Amino acid sequence: MTRLLLVGPPGAGKGTQAAILAETYGIPAISTGDIFRSNVVNGTPLGLQVKAIMEAGEYVPDDLTNEIVAARLGETDARAGFLLDGYPRTLDQVNELDRILSIDHAGVDAVVLLEAETDEVVARLLKRAIEQGRIDDTEEVIRHRMDVYAEQTSPIIAVYDKRDLVVRVNALGAVDEVTARIVDALAQRNISAV
Ligand code: AP5
Repeated sequence: MTRLLLVGPPGAGKGTQAAILAETYGIPAISTGDIFRSNVVNGTPLGLQVKAIMEAGEYVPDDLTNEIVAARLGETDARAGFLLDGYPRTLDQVNELDRILSIDHAGVDAVVLLEAETDEVVARLLKRAIEQGRIDDTEEVIRHRMDVYAEQTSPIIAVYDKRDLVVRVNALGAVDEVTARIVDALAQRNISAV
């Protein structure tokens, strides 16, 4: 059973790597960003609640995000392990994840931190803006998302560092090179692919 977290600034490649790592480790990739986006697209009550927040590049409130993750982790497929992409992002969310896992006397195996320079990730997201038109990929909102990450998410790294769980990976280079770095780094912690 493998429980992984994927953390990194917008554009670091969390979603891209999460899809590959889910296959590699035989666990579901759970992306809070994807859950919120699909609710926005489908016009659900949750989507209506979070649309403006996402467009502005702000974080969805912790209580709402925590509730969604708690429900998702309660589903059968996540009982055998999971990879959380983009959660937790705040100290409150770290506490909630601890609470959820403590019910099964469980913990996280590793926190993969994708590291990339701001100019590179901004360039990636501006390219995606042209290709996919994601609503929060304007340069102004991208830069704001970076600031929100620095203010609200960077502090959680120290928490997981104290637990010796953080695996730092250079997120620059080709997608398969980054995957290989992650898999190698996790193997050094005896976390093996299936
Ligand atoms: P979320 O969807 O998680 O967005 P994000 O963190 O801003 O990250 P991105 O999806 O932009 O980037 P990524 O790191 O996943 O990189 P990707 O693989 O896509 O969250 C969106 C919003 O939802 C938040 O702003 C917030 O409002 C809300 N939200 C989500 N979770 C929340 C939480 N826990 N609490 C509160 N609110 C929350 O790659 C980016 C681009 O780069 C792609 O085009 C990709 O093809 C390309 N790329 C990837 N890897 C490489 C590579 N190695 N080389 C070149 N290009 C690459």
